[in-house]
Amino acid sequence: MRLSLLISLALGLIVSTVRAAADNDTRGPFNPDGWFGRTTDVCIIGGGASGTYAAVRLKDMGKTVTVIEAKSTLGGHTETWTDPASGQTVELGVETWHVTNASMRFVDRFGIEVEYGLAPNTRDMLFVDYQTGRNMVGGVGYSLNDILAAQANYAVQRAKYVNLSSGYYLDSPVPEDFTLSFLDFAKKYQLEAILYFFYLQQQGGSDFLRQPALYVLKEFDLDRVVRSANNVTMRAKGQMHQIYDLALQELGDDVLLDSHAVGFLQNRRSNNKPSILVHVENSSSHELIMAEALLITAPLTIDNLRGLYPDPQETSLLGKFVPHYYYTGLVNSTGLPTNAEYNFAATGTEFHIPEVPGLYWLRSTNITGVFDFKYGHNTTDISRQAIQDDISAKVHAMHTSGDFNTTGDYNPQIIAFASHSPFGMQVSADDIKDGFYQQLYAEQGQRNTYFTGAAVAGHDSGELWDFTEAVVSKIAAAL
Ligand SMILES: Cc1cc2nc3c(=O)[nH]c(=O)nc-3n(C[C@H](O)[C@H](O)[C@H](O)COP(=O)(O)OP(=O)(O)OC[C@H]3O[C@@H](n4cnc5c(N)ncnc54)[C@H](O)[C@@H]3O)c2cc1C
Ligand SMILES: *[C@@H]1O[C@H](CO)[C@@H](O)[C@H](O)[C@H]1NC(C)=O
Ligand SMILES: *[C@@H]1O[C@H](CO)[C@@H](O)[C@H](O)[C@H]1NC(C)=O
Ligand SMILES: *[C@@H]1O[C@H](CO)[C@@H](O)[C@H](O)[C@H]1NC(C)=O
Ligand SMILES: *[C@@H]1O[C@H](CO)[C@@H](O)[C@H](O)[C@H]1NC(C)=O
Ligand SMILES: *[C@@H]1O[C@H](CO)[C@@H](O)[C@H](O)[C@H]1NC(C)=O
Ligand SMILES: *[C@@H]1O[C@H](CO)[C@@H](O)[C@H](O)[C@H]1NC(C)=O
Ligand SMILES: *[C@@H]1O[C@H](CO)[C@@H](O)[C@H](O)[C@H]1NC(C)=O
Ligand SMILES: *[C@@H]1O[C@H](CO)[C@@H](O)[C@H](O)[C@H]1NC(C)=O
Ligand SMILES: *[C@@H]1O[C@H](CO)[C@@H](O)[C@H](O)[C@H]1NC(C)=O
Repeated sequence: MRLSLLISLALGLIVSTVRAAADNDTRGPFNPDGWFGRTTDVCIIGGGASGTYAAVRLKDMGKTVTVIEAKSTLGGHTETWTDPASGQTVELGVETWHVTNASMRFVDRFGIEVEYGLAPNTRDMLFVDYQTGRNMVGGVGYSLNDILAAQANYAVQRAKYVNLSSGYYLDSPVPEDFTLSFLDFAKKYQLEAILYFFYLQQQGGSDFLRQPALYVLKEFDLDRVVRSANNVTMRAKGQMHQIYDLALQELGDDVLLDSHAVGFLQNRRSNNKPSILVHVENSSSHELIMAEALLITAPLTIDNLRGLYPDPQETSLLGKFVPHYYYTGLVNSTGLPTNAEYNFAATGTEFHIPEVPGLYWLRSTNITGVFDFKYGHNTTDISRQAIQDDISAKVHAMHTSGDFNTTGDYNPQIIAFASHSPFGMQVSADDIKDGFYQQLYAEQGQRNTYFTGAAVAGHDSGELWDFTEAVVSKIAAAL
């Protein structure tokens, strides 16, 4: 590797990335000598589900790794909240793992005890008009038989695309059905009766009916459609986050928490083994990490890829991703009867699907009086306060409608809040048709840079770990 070339390029990188923050810089004068930190085989950006899995597997294969994680813990969308009063826990994020080869290997690796199937649910399922706060007594207008028939119709279509479970492996030309809006796809195959229920399960802020059908087909594979009837889902007997706590203990100093990768530099001129410099910063210092390979698991936003793609062609490829916005949390003091889930729906819209931004549900938890909520938007980030105001207004409407057995005073307060944004990275139907995923997958391994994570392989931890397993095998073989 050509260290001198990298260092001189690095100075340019540092100057440009530091300049932006110079006004508030409390880290003292710039001294490049002090900046060269570790060298590592693989630098992994993002320590969520896929980044943590990759780090553990690569280490087990004898490689050195460094994980850069923005938050103060590993686990990403997996978030176990502990009630300070009772010590009881609530899962605010990931609640189940799809049973796959990689998920079995990962839970066994850390000795996590699992239970199979979905968590028992004894809550009453109620539907609330999101505008009036009234009880939609007839539900969302379809009988159980309608729903089962639509589900069977869906299964026939999904069975054509077995490969989608492994990733966005699309044939060329891309099947026309993938680029229909999901609404048109549903009309074509008589899926109307399941639309609301898919909307409720997919969540994450997309404009559900108008997204390309590909994304719904990707998310709902055959296992998911029939999961309550089969042994295809598992969950930790204790807390879902425990696996990440154990991984962090093992990875130790190989993880940099509260840290961001603010720029990348690649030695593109070297013939065989290009090295990559990663400029990492936390609130008190900078570090330059030299890696043989880079694995990006964080959402593929332009901000997360700064410096990686000097080539405008490639920047424009990744720039096509459109993020959505997704929030979860807990709310108390609602005055609503417990042991119920209040699913928000619409009386006057197509298939009862509310507009975004919106509240998906308020669902009672095991902690008396505490409900969990899920909230989404398709175009911009929303503040905690705006979500608080919307939830307060909706609970107020439910009280004044008189349709629910509400009690006494209420003053709903968000007591836990997490943003899972950016979420559900999608591209347009035209981009899918034009071969976006074929081009993205062709980038895998170019210039020793690899990709995994939900944007690349979908929002299912079990499938994502299978995909990541293939990527880390490829990395290990190339090093
Ligand atoms: C509320 C919710 C519930 C879900 N429930 C389930 C479920 O029950 N089962 C299931 O299989 N899937 C579920 N999912 C889907 C989930 O997205 C995937 O299962 C999986 O966790 C995604 O893993 P990932 O590695 O792509 O992303 P994440 O786990 O989000 O990891 C990405 C990590 O990158 C970090 N990061 C971002 N930017 C940077 C940066 N610039 N520098 C450093 N680090 C950065 C983030 O902090 C994060 O830790 C759920 C998702 C959400 C939001
Ligand atoms: C500096 O800090 C102030 C106050 O915290 C903030 O408003 C401003 O955006 C910061 N400027 C930069 C360049 O980060
Ligand atoms: C899972 O393991 C089985 C048995 O080893 C193998 O046949 C199958 O291809 C694996 N599946 C994936 C997705 O790796
Ligand atoms: C199907 O998926 C496998 C990976 O599981 C991939 O290697 C193969 O190319 C895919 N097929 C098509 C048609 O894309
Ligand atoms: C589910 O699968 C696991 C692992 O194969 C097995 O131990 C368990 O008994 C199965 N459970 C049921 C209900 O079939
Ligand atoms: C920032 O990173 C440096 C170097 O890795 C580390 O020593 C320091 O403790 C970190 N600071 C914070 C606040 O995390
Ligand atoms: C709800 O949470 C708020 C804020 O934490 C707290 O002040 C209040 O006592 C809680 N109310 C109930 C009924 O638990
Ligand atoms: C966001 O979703 C709403 C429907 O809820 C839709 O009317 C609007 O066009 C969408 N906006 C974008 C930019 O997709
Ligand atoms: C919640 O309570 C139910 C019923 O008592 C129990 O089966 C379940 O395990 C509990 N969940 C958690 C996360 O404690
Ligand atoms: C309100 O309480 C009555 C009497 O217990 C019950 O029959 C009814 O189903 C409840 N309504 C709702 C919306 O929970």
